[in-house]
Formats: sequence, C-alpha cells, structure tokens
Amino acid sequence: MSEEKHGKMFSDEQVKPFLPSAEFKSKALARDDKLYKKAEKDRLSFWADMAAELDWSQKWEAVLDDSNPPFYRWFTGGKLNISANCLDRHVNNGLGDKRALIFEGEKGDTAQLTYSELLEEVCKFSSVLRKLEVDKGDAVTIWMPMVPEAIVAMLACTRIGAVHSVVFGGFSPEALKDRILDSKSKVLVTADGAFRRGKTIPMRVAAEEILPLCESIQSVVTVERTGTGYEPMDGRDYRWEDLMADADSCFDPEPMDAEDPLFILYSSGTTGKPKGILHTGGGYLVGVNTTFKYVFDHQPDDVFWCTADIGWITGHSYIIYGPLSNGATTMIYEGVPDYPERDRFWELVEKYGVTVFYTAPTAIRSFMRWGNHFPAKRDLSSLRLLGSVGEPINPEAWIWYHEHIGRGKCPIVDTWWQTETGMIMITPLPGVTPLKPGSATKPFPGVEMDIVDEKGNSTGPGQRGFLVAKSPWPAMLRTLHGDPDRYLYTYWKQYEGIYFTGDGAWRDADGNFWIMGRVDDVLNVSGHRIGTMEVESALVDHPSVAEAAVIGKVHEIKGHAITAFVTLKEGIEGSDELAAELKKHVGKAIGAIARPEEVFFTYELPKTRSGKIMRRLLRDIAEQRDLGDVTTLMDPQVVAAIKDGYTEKQ
Ligand code: WT7
Repeated sequence: MSEEKHGKMFSDEQVKPFLPSAEFKSKALARDDKLYKKAEKDRLSFWADMAAELDWSQKWEAVLDDSNPPFYRWFTGGKLNISANCLDRHVNNGLGDKRALIFEGEKGDTAQLTYSELLEEVCKFSSVLRKLEVDKGDAVTIWMPMVPEAIVAMLACTRIGAVHSVVFGGFSPEALKDRILDSKSKVLVTADGAFRRGKTIPMRVAAEEILPLCESIQSVVTVERTGTGYEPMDGRDYRWEDLMADADSCFDPEPMDAEDPLFILYSSGTTGKPKGILHTGGGYLVGVNTTFKYVFDHQPDDVFWCTADIGWITGHSYIIYGPLSNGATTMIYEGVPDYPERDRFWELVEKYGVTVFYTAPTAIRSFMRWGNHFPAKRDLSSLRLLGSVGEPINPEAWIWYHEHIGRGKCPIVDTWWQTETGMIMITPLPGVTPLKPGSATKPFPGVEMDIVDEKGNSTGPGQRGFLVAKSPWPAMLRTLHGDPDRYLYTYWKQYEGIYFTGDGAWRDADGNFWIMGRVDDVLNVSGHRIGTMEVESALVDHPSVAEAAVIGKVHEIKGHAITAFVTLKEGIEGSDELAAELKKHVGKAIGAIARPEEVFFTYELPKTRSGKIMRRLLRDIAEQRDLGDVTTLMDPQVVAAIKDGYTEKQ
C-alpha cells in the first residue's frame, strides 16, 4: 500500500468527500464538532464524563495516573464490574426483555437471548467457575467456535474477576498449548467441535495431546456442539450442560478495581513468541463503550453485526463489551460468508434486519469478486451504517461497499485500531466527518495521534512517517503479560513518552490520516496479524529445514499472502511433496491462517555482511520488482540466483 497509489488515485483534490445525508445527520448522536471541542479543551475531563455513563460501585480518585510512564493507570481507586455494566445495569433500567444476543449457526439453527436471559446464563456459569475453584485473578482459557456459550464464559469470567484468555478457535492445539502455558490458566473452556463449510472440525479431542503438557489446567469444560466424541478424564473433564443444569442462577458481581486485569489476548509481534496483551477493566470499558456509541451511532433499535471472531480484539471490543455495555442487540454468526451460498451474509442481514454492519476489507474484496448479483437479490434496506476494520481499505473496495451494500445511503466508518489500543482510535463520526475512500480520517475525540519522522518530528501534509499516539488513552494495553521489558521496548523506546504503533502513515492537507500498513516484520493476512518470525520458527522446527525467511506478498483478496523461502539441510532435496509437508507443518504449529501459500526452496538466503536476512529483497523478488542496491550483501550472486529460479517457477 503505497502513498503514490492513494495519492494518484484519490487525492483530496480529485475526490469530492462523501457527506452524511440530511436524514442520517438529523438522527445521529453526534452531528457537529462538539465532542471534538470538548475533548480538545480538556481531554481528561472528557474521559471522566464518558466514564460517568457507567455504573461504578466506587468512584475513581484520579482519571489518569501518569506518575510511572509508560505504565499508565486510569480511573484509579474506582471500582466496577464489567458484567454488571453489560447486563445487570440494563436489566435494572427496564431493558430485561430486550434482545442482547442473536446467534445464527452455520446450519441455520438460531438462538436469541434477552438481557435477562443472558444475565441468568452468565450467573450460572459464574457459579460453575467458582465451584471449579476459579478465584479473582485466576486465568481461564477459552478455545471455542462462535457460539453463545463462548460469550457467556467470557462475561462469567468478568463477573467473578477471573482473567480470560480467548484463543482463536482456528489456532492449532500447539498454539493453544503455548498460550495456556504462558497465561497459567486453571480452566479450559472448549467445545467438542465446530462446524465449518458443512464439515465437522474436532476440537476437544484434538486438544487431547496437549492437555497432559498443560500442568496449570485443573478442569476442562466442554460444550456439546457437533457430537464429536472424546475421552473424558475423571476429575478433570466436565460437560458444560451437566454443570449448568444445577448451577445457581444468582451470582453477585465481584467489585473489581479499575486497574485489575480483565483479559489477556495474544497477538503476533516481531519475534517467534506471541505477545500477551494485557487489558484492565475500567479504562477499557470506558473506551469501548464510548467509541461503540459514537462511531456506530448507537440507536436503541439497532441490530449490530460485527463479523469478526471473538478470538480477536474486534470480537472482544465490538461484538461483546462495546455493544453490551451500551445495551445494544449484537449478532454472531458461526460460519463463513460463502457457505452454503455466497449470499449467506446478505441473507442474514435480510433475515434479522441488521442496521449496522462491520466487517474487514478482505471480506469486501471477496464479495466484489463473487459478483454483484449476490447482494442484489437480497433486501438490504435495513442497513444504515457500514464499518471497515483490520487493514487499509482500497478506494475501489470502499466505493463498491458503499454502492452495493450500502446502496449509496450508508456512511462507512473506516476504523483504525489495534489489539493494543483496545478501542477504535482513528475513525470518522458518521454524522459529522466528510469521508474520503481509503482514509480512516481523524482521531476519535480524546485520542491524540500524530505522524512523525525518524527523529520524532511531526510530518507535513503528503509526507510519509510513523503513526504514533502522543498521549495515553483509557483502553490502552497496560503491559505484556509477564514481560514488562518487552512492553517498554516494543512500544515506548522509539520515541520518548510516545506510543509507537508499528504502522506507516501520511496525512493529507485536510488533516485526514491515510494508513499505509505495518513497517515491522508483521504481516496482515486477511485482516489477521501474523508475525514472520513465528512462521519462520515453525518452519525451522521441521527436521529437513536449515533456514527460512517469510515475507508477505501483496495479494488481491487477502492483503498479504505468506511466501516462504527455505533452505534445506545437507543432502535433502526440495520437492512438491516436501513443500506441501512444510505448509502442513506450519498449520499444525500455529493454525491454518498461518500456512504459507507458497514455499520456495533455495540454496541460500540473501544476507547482509552481518548475517541479517534481507526480507525486503525477497519481497521485491516475489512481487517481481527490480532489485535495488545489493552491494551490502554478503554474496550478491545469491539474490540473482533466487530471482531467476523464482521467476521461472511462476
Ligand atoms: C493492525 C492491528 C483492530 C482490529 C483488527 C486488527 C491494521 C487495523 C486498520 C484500518 C488500516 C488497519 C494496522 C494495525 N489495521 N485497522 N482501518 N486501516 N490499517 O487488529 O491484529 O491488532 O492488527 O491492523 O496495521 O496496526 P490487530
């Protein structure tokens, strides 16, 4: 994603910004710049006002404690419970019969839970967790498909003050094991299996091999979803249904300190080991409650559908905590968009009258490719607002989304944020901001973003630089679980007192932010973050592999496709079979999303004289660009040989 590409195709001079319709604006929660003005005048009092919308069992003493940067603390001294804010508060306000959660299974089975019903389920599972001796501060790992029980389990953790660690259901048992070991979880909540494209994917039985290695796990709770068998172990394994049958349906929420840990979510970084991103309760809830309300312009009769998986931060913040803290109706769908037909999403929009729809550019590009007739045959008139997240949206996809899904009348909020930021940071306010396709526009009120050069000076219009946050924000990560040093040097060492996002960006003359993508060795594959080093360490773990270098090759639908350059050990020959085996090997170590699209064997990798692998050159080769300066290489011949071999294979 280059500056030139945006600049040429859609510079601000060439494109007339899209403005919200008079109708949209007349009903919008934010219609003018009042929120921005208020936050500009006094950022902390802005966030204090936002925090006052939640129920606190004890009010905070300070909005922000910045005495020990970058270990910032928000709403210190305040006490609240997250599940009480997401459930009890609404039931007490007369919303008990409002739908909280709509679930649709891949096969078309459905469930709808009101706020009262969801509260009851959460109380029951809270009682279950207590019975299984989970205490305040203990960790619980949740590895599940997109079923209501997953959400019940998460909210129950927050009710009793346990820390949840949700592991994406598509990650392999190996990856699950690493995350269980790191978080030292006492309980694993899982399912017997998942449905995907009409097939059954076993989960609990697949975890069998790693469970004996997870010493911290005392109990495993398994939801029955697919009827896939497994061998329960006495005293450790429990069926969700059995435990819930006689669980107490009342459970008082534990009052939690605003800075008590709420959850850990593992995310890829630039080393082989994923980072355990730690969020705490008070600031996080204030951040996601406020951004959900204003970015998605929450109206009481909205049906909100965020298509992410609960295993990612988008699922945490905008399927669960943001919508439920606002008393919204949130929807989840178990399956994929093209099964049984390529109009499955539009069928669901029609069926449930979805009003606000939030998805990723990679999905939008697939919809485009599948053809306009799929959305065209469905009634999408309930939609009033669209959202995009996960990677830069190319203007072509933006325009298609606007026309074919939004039917020309829905504003699109392109929201930039990260697992680390917890909440949306750069985004339009749909009733206020003029939209430019491809730009996430402006920082949310109370958020201070900037683009700086190598020395940390703000860049001028049109000049590329690094995207940073100049001041702390309530939903920010607090540290990396068990590794505060890595927290310091990953995010706070590039610039003194400034948060480094890892993204490159530029700003246009109107102050809109244009995100160019990661500047580190992190890939964005279909909106999911994969570390090159993680894939490389999985590859070198294979007995035939000597060395590996992984790059992201620009891909029309996925954003990046993983391409691996591999050297083999003495005496081993590369073959199609071995390439297939290596792909499978990575899938087993991490999960299908990390499986390389392409494995290319070479006798050597391009390295600098100090031995550093030059991934940039491999990217140039894969994308068939001219190679720049190769004189710093240890052996300039290598790169020419790889280039010839690779080009020949294409
Ligand atoms: C990275 C964060 C937070 C949601 C899901 C991804 C990229 C995210 C956008 C956007 C351009 C975006 C960035 C960021 N990204 N949203 N609207 N425009 N880029 O979470 O896995 O933590 O990845 O996703 O590169 O750093 P994540």
